[in-house]
Amino acid sequence: MAKIMEGKRLAEEIKSNVKQKVEMLGGMGIEVGLALMLVGDNLSSKQYLSATLKACKSTDITPYEYRFPESVSMNELLNTVHAINNDERIHGLLVFFPLPRRINSRKIVNSILPEKDVDGLGSIPIGKFAAEESTLQLYSKQYDPAVTQHLGFLPCTPFGVIRLLEYYNVEIKGKHAVVIGKSLAVGKPLSLMLLTKEATVTVCHRETKNLADITRQADILCAAAGRPNLITGDMVKDGVVVVDIGINVLENSHVVGDIDFDSVSKKASLITPVPGGVGPVTIAMLLENTVKSAKARI
Ligand SMILES: NC(=O)c1ccc[n+]([C@@H]2O[C@H](COP(=O)([O-])OP(=O)(O)OC[C@H]3O[C@@H](n4cnc5c(N)ncnc54)[C@H](OP(=O)(O)O)[C@@H]3O)[C@@H](O)[C@H]2O)c1
Repeated sequence: MAKIMEGKRLAEEIKSNVKQKVEMLGGMGIEVGLALMLVGDNLSSKQYLSATLKACKSTDITPYEYRFPESVSMNELLNTVHAINNDERIHGLLVFFPLPRRINSRKIVNSILPEKDVDGLGSIPIGKFAAEESTLQLYSKQYDPAVTQHLGFLPCTPFGVIRLLEYYNVEIKGKHAVVIGKSLAVGKPLSLMLLTKEATVTVCHRETKNLADITRQADILCAAAGRPNLITGDMVKDGVVVVDIGINVLENSHVVGDIDFDSVSKKASLITPVPGGVGPVTIAMLLENTVKSAKARI
């Protein structure tokens, strides 16, 4: 039976460190502020927003909420991002996805100043990361704010996965890591990070043939497809380390991941639960990036 990788525990440690830094900055007259932009009524975005607000409260970060109806115009959103970019009280902006289809999400994300792009999903931080400049941060135990200022922030969810693997002393170098999903927010940056850590990486997506043949080869399996119970026990090998990034809200309001926990946990050596795995670490990373952004401005 697998040992559970408790994301909640790591998240609490990161948040307590964040809180200390927020207090330190408070002593210098700096209040750390995070803007949160939500459009429409997407259930999982609303859950993510309320968890983020709770985490802000526990770390004394001041949240600034920007909520818009589904009908909001592109122009209104762009104007709001520009106002946030110029607002000295705010050190980071998180935009909740998905945005309505008629809104150009990339244009919105790319209008965030890189130094306030604490979710690290703009083309500049992603490009810098892909060019391997900011991979330095993957190795820096201090996660130095000066380094971050120069290189941009690493995307929260994939970097959270790396931090969780490190927290549980999972050897990445030389292992076969299989990532399911190739989105810009999760799968693609995660595969790059695992590659930086010298894993042999296979990335799967909807067009991948014989998914099970590939997942059975994984030493480390990371699922970010958004498909409930996509991976079952017969699709993994004994001893695999499993990270379930998927968050799927079922009709009965239950939240499940992409991994069939009951069958896979019988074979895995380590596994993340959903909820309580990657989700809390993602939020903690967001707050860590926000405080780094505030520190970089001293
Ligand atoms: N835990 C957290 O903090 C956190 C943070 C962000 C996202 N999430 C969750 O992670 C999941 C993925 O998020 P995302 O933003 O990356 O979603 P996304 O943009 O919809 O991307 C999903 C990816 O999975 C692939 N995929 C879908 N069905 C598949 C299948 N049956 N077999 C193989 N690949 C499949 C897609 O392939 P194609 O590219 O071919 O379409 C795509 O690359 C969602 O459940 C989301 O809620 C969790």
